[in-house]
Amino acid sequence: MSRTGVRAAGGDGDVPVIETRALEKIYSEGTEAEVVALRGVDLRIMRGEFVAIMGPSGSGKSTLMNLIGALDTPSAGVYLCDGVDVSTLDREALARLRRDKIGFVFQGFNLLPRMSALDNVAMPLGYASVPPAERLERAQAALEAVGLGARTGHRPSELSGGQQQRVAIARALINRPPVLLADEPTGALDTRTGEEILALFKRLRDEGHTVVLITHDPDVAAHADRTYVMRDGELDEEPGLGMNGRASVESGDSGFGSDPNADPNPQSRIPNPGSTP
Ligand SMILES: Nc1ncnc2c1ncn2[C@@H]1O[C@H](COP(=O)(O)OP(=O)(O)OP(=O)(O)O)[C@@H](O)[C@H]1O
Ligand SMILES: [Mg+2]
Repeated sequence: MSRTGVRAAGGDGDVPVIETRALEKIYSEGTEAEVVALRGVDLRIMRGEFVAIMGPSGSGKSTLMNLIGALDTPSAGVYLCDGVDVSTLDREALARLRRDKIGFVFQGFNLLPRMSALDNVAMPLGYASVPPAERLERAQAALEAVGLGARTGHRPSELSGGQQQRVAIARALINRPPVLLADEPTGALDTRTGEEILALFKRLRDEGHTVVLITHDPDVAAHADRTYVMRDGELDEEPGLGMNGRASVESGDSGFGSDPNADPNPQSRIPNPGSTP
């Protein structure tokens, strides 16, 4: 399935943004504690797709997410991110890939409790060496884009679960990564708040982001364009499970530009270093 109108950087629209070939992960290999967590996983995700990965507890979903996010290395097989074999990258190139290409939303938010929402969101920009004034300006814009412009000074404990999750999403997107990986992002939320987060993902998808959502909940997965199911380390695409959420989406603007090179819209909505007055 391909999305017209959404093209990869440089016009190579046929290169998957995420592709794995026969990916394997074995923990504690060769010991009594050996666990085969991934078996021959083949995954192809194009830019601008919203894909769900379902599966029971222990089936290997988070293991796969850690490999896709270049937080861990496979035991065998190949992972290509935007056509680049990640195993060929050195330490610095890997850090750049994690920073520039992929935003993570972890289950349980992972926000720093002593920091305000604004500082939590701005935090990844520190590593990207963005000047302090611009960091705060971009964090403010990111929080406004998820509807939290009036809560920037609140600490996580002063926010609801859904608001904390939106702070985590704003933080994941602050470096404008083209790919958003979310591990059970609605697991801790009530149904209505969860629907709000899913609507935000659909808007991001419509703006050209690639969204990979991990969930055990079929109702959540049904919002995605396509669904894969993980069973005991094996991944299969589940035809007919995705109902293509695009049809039910109202046009909205999340305020997040994706990778400027890939954004089909000319202006990114978070101020760019060179575009702010
Ligand atoms: N660091 C590790 N060392 C050893 N085994 C691990 C490690 N991490 C995960 N496992 C094992 O690998 C398998 C897959 O775990 P994984 O965390 O990927 O499952 P999951 O699908 O994300 O489950 P859940 O829905 O409960 O989060 C499990 O059997 C788990 O016990
Ligand atoms: Mg998990």
